[in-house]
Amino acid sequence: MVLLRKKIGVVVTGGIAAYKATELVRQLVKAGAIVRVIMTKSASEFITPLTLQVLSRHEVLIDTFSENDTEHVQHIEFADWCDLVVVAPATANIIGKLSNGIADEIASTTLLAVACPCLLCPAMNTNMYQHPATQRNLKRLKKDGYYLLEPDTGFLAEGYEGKGRLPVITQIVEKLESIAAKHFYPQLLENKKVIVTAGGTRERIDPVRYISNDSSGKMGYAMAKIASFLGAEVSFISTKDHFPMMDNMDLILVESALQMQKEINERYAQTDYVIMAAAVSDFRMMDQAEHKIKKKDQENEKILWELIENPDILAELGQNKKQQVLVGFAAETQNLIEYAQRKLKSKRIDWIIANDVSQKDIGFNSKNNQVTLLNEKGQVVNLPKMEKIDLARKVWEIILNDPIIKD
Ligand code: CTP
Repeated sequence: MVLLRKKIGVVVTGGIAAYKATELVRQLVKAGAIVRVIMTKSASEFITPLTLQVLSRHEVLIDTFSENDTEHVQHIEFADWCDLVVVAPATANIIGKLSNGIADEIASTTLLAVACPCLLCPAMNTNMYQHPATQRNLKRLKKDGYYLLEPDTGFLAEGYEGKGRLPVITQIVEKLESIAAKHFYPQLLENKKVIVTAGGTRERIDPVRYISNDSSGKMGYAMAKIASFLGAEVSFISTKDHFPMMDNMDLILVESALQMQKEINERYAQTDYVIMAAAVSDFRMMDQAEHKIKKKDQENEKILWELIENPDILAELGQNKKQQVLVGFAAETQNLIEYAQRKLKSKRIDWIIANDVSQKDIGFNSKNNQVTLLNEKGQVVNLPKMEKIDLARKVWEIILNDPIIKD
């Protein structure tokens, strides 16, 4: 969403990971970006310019001197055109040239003319990566203001393990998104601390069983991601761990409601916004079994477990509220607005986001959501059905009363 209509220059240099640039270009185009590609001669030994031309729908520049347009110098025009540049893979060679201001072929001449944010994704043999010269160059480039995405450790083309693999493409795209947000979104939450909770809590029955619910954590993740895009320092307290984290997003994994409450309380005094998107289990086992509970001998025998109510985390935060803005979600299957209004009052919070979880295509576990926001001043905002990430952006705009996030 942040990359929509952004002009992205992809610079591909000559390492074996060059073939992965195809997927990068594809994903950027899919994210709505306008993509143009530059390749070094060495990169074109690994993949053809035609592949990248087809995927980017633009001519690929490979030669500094093939100047067909008399109006422009092509590498300068390219550099000026870009909103963002990514070099992937970035070889030791291009890193060395860039850190020393050398410009002697299409990639290095263009990169020297680039004035917009630029992300370098080094990928090479692990010994080349660890070499003091490469490390010195990377350090210098970081100081010069380049963004760096460290290579992954794993199985290398050489047949052994080491650090040097190009990170998975979704990670490169995520990194570009957070760079784009930093530069193109107003930093409305700069110097603000935000807690976002997500996922359904798990209340243990015994070591292998638990009580939980259908919450996937996606809405909470979207809220946390947008908060980080707006410059906040985010504590993301979640029961799910499969999300890539943004730079200023700290993942705190929890399981039960009590663990979640403990993590929130430790941070609450210094926090500005709490977004309780987690579906907190209302009950837990009175006594958690130390060992796996065995089944009874007789079929249809009644089993009785005692449950005890969990603390209402949000209501307790409401009682101790000072500077914090508190936002809750009301998951309902009937009387949506009425029940949401009741929760807003009883929990003494600022906003409630009412969410109909009875419909299959919105709410729990789905990609889309549709909500109504209510605040303690009586304001009611109905939002149409949309993807959770777009919805999260809208919700933040409403909470911050600042509709200046433009695509
Ligand atoms: N919540 C909480 N602690 C709980 C239960 C809920 O902090 N023990 C928070 C949720 O994270 C959500 C809001 O309170 O932001 C409303 O949660 P919801 O499950 O819709 O309502 P409940 O308060 O649990 O009430 P009920 O289950 O009766 O609808």
